[in-house]
Amino acid sequence: MMITVVGSINMDLVVQTDDFPKLGETVLGTLYKTAPGGKGANQAVAAARLGGQVEMIGCVGSDSFGIELITNLEANKIDVSGVKVSAESASGIANILISDGDNRIIVVPGANHDLAPTVIDDMRGTIQNSSLVMMQLEIPIPTILRTLEMCKELGVPVLLNPAPAGGFKAEFMPYVSYLTPNETECQQLFGDNLEQALELYPNKLIVTLGSDGARYYDGEKHVFVAGYATTVVDTTGAGDTFNGAFAYAIVNDYSIEKAVQFANVAASLSVEKLGAQGGMPTVAAVNQRLGSVVE
Ligand code: RIB
Repeated sequence: MMITVVGSINMDLVVQTDDFPKLGETVLGTLYKTAPGGKGANQAVAAARLGGQVEMIGCVGSDSFGIELITNLEANKIDVSGVKVSAESASGIANILISDGDNRIIVVPGANHDLAPTVIDDMRGTIQNSSLVMMQLEIPIPTILRTLEMCKELGVPVLLNPAPAGGFKAEFMPYVSYLTPNETECQQLFGDNLEQALELYPNKLIVTLGSDGARYYDGEKHVFVAGYATTVVDTTGAGDTFNGAFAYAIVNDYSIEKAVQFANVAASLSVEKLGAQGGMPTVAAVNQRLGSVVE
């Protein structure tokens, strides 16, 4: 039941502050730390920490961040044979400002943009052996397209998390089994009429609603799966945790509704700690909280 993630790997440069600075203003921060991130790596770690068998395809720079990022993936029991080291570019970074649990992020892709379609050709065997391929939009679009085409040819389902939404192309849709935008991304992709978009893509378009949970259309009715209210320390990586957990649940044959419920609870646990990967839970932690949700 292997999940292959084709995606970004970043070092997050996290700064916590009481107030976001206004334009031209300087404020004092309360904490600075570096922490492994990148939507691809985060989703890979989320699925692996739950016990999923995960392989990562991505690209880092030949710098100290690159070494740390690969070591972190390995520490999370992720197969890194598909992670390339670019000789040209520095590792990707994300500048993350956190205030009051919320965040503002600037990503500098660096080596992530050196992940060429030929790498996907080289990893055909891995893709063929995958139960699910999971992608986001922080790597080059031609690489996404090559992966989508290969997955279609090999009959491998794809979960695409269209974040950041700017790179999304409508032509992706026939290749995708699950598309998981948040509300803002969904509006960017399909316009203001959310119901209409959901009804166009039954059991495929799953829209996350932050702490309110997630929703989709099952072909007959709109399904809302409530989120789990909790104390928020840092929402960075909550969406990634949702995706990693949803992928884990789907390859373990959960129904879509149960998978969304499982993913909501995993995401609720993830926001209780600092850093994108800091709060990503084990399956035992999710099931324990889920037990208190289901009954
Ligand atoms: O989704 C959160 C992630 O977005 C961060 O870890 C950062 O690296 C950016 O890719």
